[in-house]
Amino acid sequence: MNFNITASNIKDIKADLEIIVVIDGDLQHASVKDRKLLKKAGFSGSQDEVCHLIEKKRLYVGAADLKGAAIRPAVATAIRSLTGKKAYKTVKMATYVSHPRCSASIRAMVEGLVLGGYTFTQYKSKKSECPVKTVEISLEGRDAHEISMEVAARAVHNGEIAAEATNFTRDIVNTTPDDCYPEIMANIAEKLAKNNGLKCNILTPKALKKEKMEALLAVARASRHKPRVIHLAHTPKKPKAVITLVGKGLTYDSGGLSLKPADYMVTMKSDKSGGSAVLGLMKAISEMELPIEVHGFVGAVENMIGGDAYKPDDVLKAKNGKTIEIRNTDAEGRLVLADTLAYAQQEVKADYIFDFATLTGACVVGVGHYTSGVMGFNDEVKELVKKQARIAGELVTPLDFNDYLKKTIKSEIADICNISNTRYGGAITAGQFLSEFIDEDHKERWVHIDIAGPAFVEHAWGENPHGASGAGVRMMLRLIESLSRDTH
Ligand code: BES
Ligand code: ZN
Ligand code: ZN
Repeated sequence: MNFNITASNIKDIKADLEIIVVIDGDLQHASVKDRKLLKKAGFSGSQDEVCHLIEKKRLYVGAADLKGAAIRPAVATAIRSLTGKKAYKTVKMATYVSHPRCSASIRAMVEGLVLGGYTFTQYKSKKSECPVKTVEISLEGRDAHEISMEVAARAVHNGEIAAEATNFTRDIVNTTPDDCYPEIMANIAEKLAKNNGLKCNILTPKALKKEKMEALLAVARASRHKPRVIHLAHTPKKPKAVITLVGKGLTYDSGGLSLKPADYMVTMKSDKSGGSAVLGLMKAISEMELPIEVHGFVGAVENMIGGDAYKPDDVLKAKNGKTIEIRNTDAEGRLVLADTLAYAQQEVKADYIFDFATLTGACVVGVGHYTSGVMGFNDEVKELVKKQARIAGELVTPLDFNDYLKKTIKSEIADICNISNTRYGGAITAGQFLSEFIDEDHKERWVHIDIAGPAFVEHAWGENPHGASGAGVRMMLRLIESLSRDTH
């Protein structure tokens, strides 16, 4: 999708369709030209309600207010309604600004268009896609004082980068396990590094053995697809901060010998969502040329069954020397992350470490399909994630650690057990398990984000389509952008 931004009046721009956002049901607003027709059609302008006046070449959509969280899904819903309608190649839109010099709603509009225009058609013989190739954005009615061309252009540019990176992540997650296994994830990372000027190091099983990542290797053992650990780095000169991102990249999670029931196994190609989000983030960060050093690590593994599989009753030794009693092979993500987190800390001394993982079904039960759980020791950093997620249009909620739950992952025979002895509080006990693999000097700098709910949903919601959402990408990009502004 190409974006052109112009000071011309909207009526003078040639396009196949105009998309008009009706704010807070205000049908009397000057931008609403077809009041009578809209009334006749029963259109009230409520959030995400669309009304396409084909003859008028206008598509109306409602948004509750001018905030990004309302504009983004509204515009996404509008453009999604055009899927497969080949005639609409060019679309024009006016701009909506909440405060003078505030370009947030312009960025949200662009994000909504790119995110809403996403379709995953790789496995379809007949492809029904978004027809829109060009979007003309008019700054009509906005004097340079209210919003300058330069500020608007930057908002459009950044919105495009953020949403394209989210779509890149969605593509990886939606790809089937036999088309996207650890080696392929590593290939994707290598290609990205080459295109975007990132440093790239891929650890193959031999290197993983040398690094003593025995927990990760045990999870990978029964699969014909051998594991990889990916390390990408964006290293600008004189960085304002150093950030490490770590992602769970289970290209398939069958549960292993503690096999998942059939209904629960479906969608487990999405267990690579954390790692895929890290790849999408590295793409966006390099394209925005942010003055922050960012390291992205992905533990890419397939959890399968076989004569060679790791077992409940095994005791594994992680990279940091801690021993882990295995009581359930389906709690594999924390084992892969334990070693990947330990390796990441050995390689980089970071100001902040964030990990992303579809770690627990318990997180989905606890907070629902649309929200991620945020855990860690430092309330300020958790708050920062929450604030930036809200701006980015992602839902998160803090889940606090506590010492009572910590006791439930004790082991009689090893340093720690990979599951809790209670079936309650599973998202938190998984987070507390990970904390055992964070060094003392990194404890206050680390936050774990359980994206098991929003990463993959089998219906469209907000600006997200059926399937992968790209959860984590926009919230963390915003956070890193905010650090690049705050620290100068
Ligand atoms: N990948 C799953 C978690 C998951 C569940 C992600 C649903 C997305 C949707 C993870 O590896 C897992 O299986 N966790 C177990 C842990 C249990 C054995 C302690 C779970 O949540 O049931
Ligand atoms: Zn599992
Ligand atoms: Zn898993």
